Amino acid sequence: MKDIEKLKKVMFDAADEASNLHMEYFEKDIAISRKQNYSDLVTEVDKKAETKIAELIYSSFPDHNILGEEGDYRKKESDYLWIVDPIDGTVNYTHSIPIFCVSIGLEYKGELIIGIVQSAATGEKFYAEKGKGAFLNGKQIKVSNIEYLKDSLLVTGFPYGAKDNSDHCIDHFVNFLKLGLPIRRLGSAALDICWLACGRFEAFWEVNLNAWDVAAGCLILTEAGGRVTNFKGEPYSIYGKQILASNGKSLHKEMMDVLSTAYLND
Ligand code: IPD
Ligand code: CA
Ligand code: CA
Repeated sequence: MKDIEKLKKVMFDAADEASNLHMEYFEKDIAISRKQNYSDLVTEVDKKAETKIAELIYSSFPDHNILGEEGDYRKKESDYLWIVDPIDGTVNYTHSIPIFCVSIGLEYKGELIIGIVQSAATGEKFYAEKGKGAFLNGKQIKVSNIEYLKDSLLVTGFPYGAKDNSDHCIDHFVNFLKLGLPIRRLGSAALDICWLACGRFEAFWEVNLNAWDVAAGCLILTEAGGRVTNFKGEPYSIYGKQILASNGKSLHKEMMDVLSTAYLND
């Protein structure tokens, strides 16, 4: 593997450059367009930030591949894949809500080795390196010690096609609500997972996310001692369509049990 310090520096620089762009245009009048789904927005800042990140990566590592939300630059054979969400939380961003971030994960031979999630508006930088722990602004973080669902604060998100109840996403939400549990919806999957990693939440679930939403966050969570699976408790892939992430305590199985009920009549 290449020099990890050089990879880290490029990742940190790219996240800083994206964060500078986020703050330069935050609360300003910016060009916004819609993707296939009416609520799925992309702004000029998403595009500018992704272009800047790709430029920085290519200037140091021209032989690497990049998978970005706004552009798939994968053209060559490479052991390295940078997975980039230039703004996670774009809808929040366009409404001047300070819950958004840039998320960059790096895979080497298919395994995540480093990841960063940087929230410019709150000044929080989450970072992890495989086998070396997870950090928030340089301080090591750990998941919470809460054991059971009854004591938990949950967080979730909805896919842009939620109105069609895609993969029972509405049913899952209702099933957790019916248990009387507190649930939050931040609007940024990457931050949902990082806030779980640093002990603010106990569990997170969502359907139909993409690799760029979760790549960095999942490494940060597992390095903070958390657990990530699909809804059946099977090994998780960032290219899969269901994510159940938790602090890894008994409540992970309790979450699986609740999530399974939506499929009973299928
Ligand atoms: C979205 C956010 C949101 C999640 C959506 C994602 P975007 O990403 O992570 O929390 O619920 O499913 O698509 O569009 O802001 O990059
Ligand atoms: Ca995203
Ligand atoms: Ca995005």
